[in-house]
Amino acid sequence: MLLGIELLKNNKIKKFVGIENKNGPFYSAKKIIAPLRKEYDISILFSDGLSNLVSDNHPFLNSFDTLVMSGFGTKEILKILSDIPMLKNLQTIILEPRNNVWGIRKYFNNSKWKISEEWIVKEKNNFHNVFKLLKTKKINTLNEKQIYSGVNIKGGKDIIHEYWKTKTHYLESIVGFSKNKDLQKVYSYLLKNRN
Ligand SMILES: C[S@@+](CC[C@H](N)C(=O)[O-])C[C@H]1O[C@@H](n2cnc3c(N)ncnc32)[C@H](O)[C@@H]1O
Repeated sequence: MLLGIELLKNNKIKKFVGIENKNGPFYSAKKIIAPLRKEYDISILFSDGLSNLVSDNHPFLNSFDTLVMSGFGTKEILKILSDIPMLKNLQTIILEPRNNVWGIRKYFNNSKWKISEEWIVKEKNNFHNVFKLLKTKKINTLNEKQIYSGVNIKGGKDIIHEYWKTKTHYLESIVGFSKNKDLQKVYSYLLKNRN
């Protein structure tokens, strides 16, 4: 929502539709946008992901060219992504998953969506992975190393270094107890990158 407002104010987009599935954040978002509606094409819809828009065959479905999902887990993001074939004009997807980022790379492997940028950003001592995906005509593939350690990661050199250090330290403490093969692969590529 805040991102949409910034983009509208800076003339980067013409229209913004926010989607929220919980009453509290939905009503506070409505309050925030109310004074802006005279000046900007901005609205907020109550929906679990895209599901209400899809079931209503909402006219917005054909007007979106960009979808942004930020601030929740990969499992939830993947659930919502299953509806993207309904967004006929979608060209760009921006994602900021809060966990299991390799799940995002795996999902788009062997698809017409290309990870064009992957960023690590740091805000208030927390690291965030941000993906920009573009729709292409050909199928895009990733190798195992790219799936588990990323695709040309951008961000400040110091931030990436600190991220890798923090992540290695964290995984070191759990990987011995975990049977999760994905986590073990993430850890082993982190060690390889460090060396
Ligand atoms: C951390 S906030 C992100 C805030 C947003 N990036 C902004 O700029 O204001 C994540 C929001 O996504 C909402 N959310 C989570 N799962 C959702 C879903 N399936 N459908 C719609 N909204 C969802 C949560 O209720 C929460 O308000």
